[in-house]
Amino acid sequence: MRSIAQFLPEHPFFAGLDERYVDLVTGCASNAHLSPGSYLFREGGPADTFYVIRRGRVAIETPSPTGPVVTQTVHEGDVVGWSWLVAPYRWTFDARAVDATSLITFDGACLRGKCNDDPELGYALLQRVVRVMSASLHSARAAPRPVRRPVVSAGAVRTDRGPADCEAVMVPRPFVVADNRRDTRDTVTLDLVAADDEPLAFAPGQFTMLSAFGTGEVPISISGDPAHPEVLQHTVRNVGGVTRRLAQAAPGTTLGIRGPFGHGWEVADGRGGDVVFLAGGIGLAPLRPAILEVCADRASYGQVRLLYGSRTPEDILFGHDLHTWAREYDVVVEETVDAGTLGWRGHVGLVTQLVARGGFDPARTLALVCGPEVMMRYAAQALADRGVAPARLRLSMERNMKCGVGLCGHCQLRELFLCLDGPVLSYDLLEPLLTRTEL
Ligand SMILES: Cc1cc2nc3c(=O)[nH]c(=O)nc-3n(C[C@H](O)[C@H](O)[C@H](O)COP(=O)(O)OP(=O)(O)OC[C@H]3O[C@@H](n4cnc5c(N)ncnc54)[C@H](O)[C@@H]3O)c2cc1C
Ligand code: FES
Repeated sequence: MRSIAQFLPEHPFFAGLDERYVDLVTGCASNAHLSPGSYLFREGGPADTFYVIRRGRVAIETPSPTGPVVTQTVHEGDVVGWSWLVAPYRWTFDARAVDATSLITFDGACLRGKCNDDPELGYALLQRVVRVMSASLHSARAAPRPVRRPVVSAGAVRTDRGPADCEAVMVPRPFVVADNRRDTRDTVTLDLVAADDEPLAFAPGQFTMLSAFGTGEVPISISGDPAHPEVLQHTVRNVGGVTRRLAQAAPGTTLGIRGPFGHGWEVADGRGGDVVFLAGGIGLAPLRPAILEVCADRASYGQVRLLYGSRTPEDILFGHDLHTWAREYDVVVEETVDAGTLGWRGHVGLVTQLVARGGFDPARTLALVCGPEVMMRYAAQALADRGVAPARLRLSMERNMKCGVGLCGHCQLRELFLCLDGPVLSYDLLEPLLTRTEL
């Protein structure tokens, strides 16, 4: 890892700052490392530090009577905190490490002292901090409707939700089926439009609780384009009572939607490096929004590979998309099936075997994996064995869910509530839990 003195002059926050000021600022800096879930700071605490993230992700959360609300997630290269510069020097929000996170921390009192000694340095830092504040306010406004989450601490869940909050998250919004397309023999994609015409903004990897009125409600990932939230897309595999009714929903049918819920892929963390998408079966559906996001900003990424395994050639989803991504967006698409049929010239075997073919630089790869849990376990192991860092390897955990908002405990995996903390989680957190069925 480069030293602080090497790192700072190249960081955009300090760009253009006179060399002697960079030296002064470096004198107030030190390195820190946080494990997932630890807090950088809590609301109301003394604001005596600000941070530059070197590696990992940090959730900015606003405390609310029903638990913290995530307003923004910041990443590698981002700057966190401005309250150290403004009296009374108290934090006005919480900041929590989502992954194993490395940071440069700046002693606020030390910086304030140097700014007082040299107002020109003070003005230069103030200008930069105001830019960060402005970007973060903009991001908070543009963020998808936040998920309200309870406090989860050592297995205890606070359940003091007010009725208004319960109504906001528990009452479904009516959406009308605009189209129902058959993808494979047991899978359809539904185009849904909000009855009140208000689009449902979402982050790739989030899910909704989708109800067929009179039958039941199930969690289903959003499979559409995040740039076009006016049409909410869900790809549903018919496996039981509720999904059968959803798969049969004709245009004009009204369905219920709660959400969007959960933490998504945050694929933008892969900018500047390679991205590997690894999907098994219907697992391609939750990955599709992230692939579309990468295609829309293709120049920001290096090699992009999609490794996709299906039962048979007839079970391959989104055939048209696979061609478009490969032809127009330089995505290397490698497919494999468990059992080939007449005319299938592609690979036959496990999707994990495709990992061994390489074609990506593990040291700068972000890998996103979705499919049956046993497949994810082996795929994650194969990617980690090739050298992808566990913190940059993300899996979508689709265990049973009921409420989607941290009330019922159906999705609990040890201290994690998959509906709130997931469904997308990094492998360094999940690895010890993946072999367990009930925790
Ligand atoms: C976060 C999340 C996202 C999901 N995204 C999608 C999606 O995009 N598309 C999609 O088709 N399905 C998705 N699922 C799975 C979907 O929720 C289940 O298939 C559905 O709940 C089954 O309900 P049912 O009443 O039709 O079947 P049931 O009669 O309840 O069950 C039928 C069979 O499906 C199995 N099953 C039930 N729930 C799950 C589950 N969560 N995961 C795997 N198997 C299950 C049951 O064990 C049983 O064998 C997702 C699940 C989660 C938790
Ligand atoms: S707590 Fe109910 S689904 Fe997660």
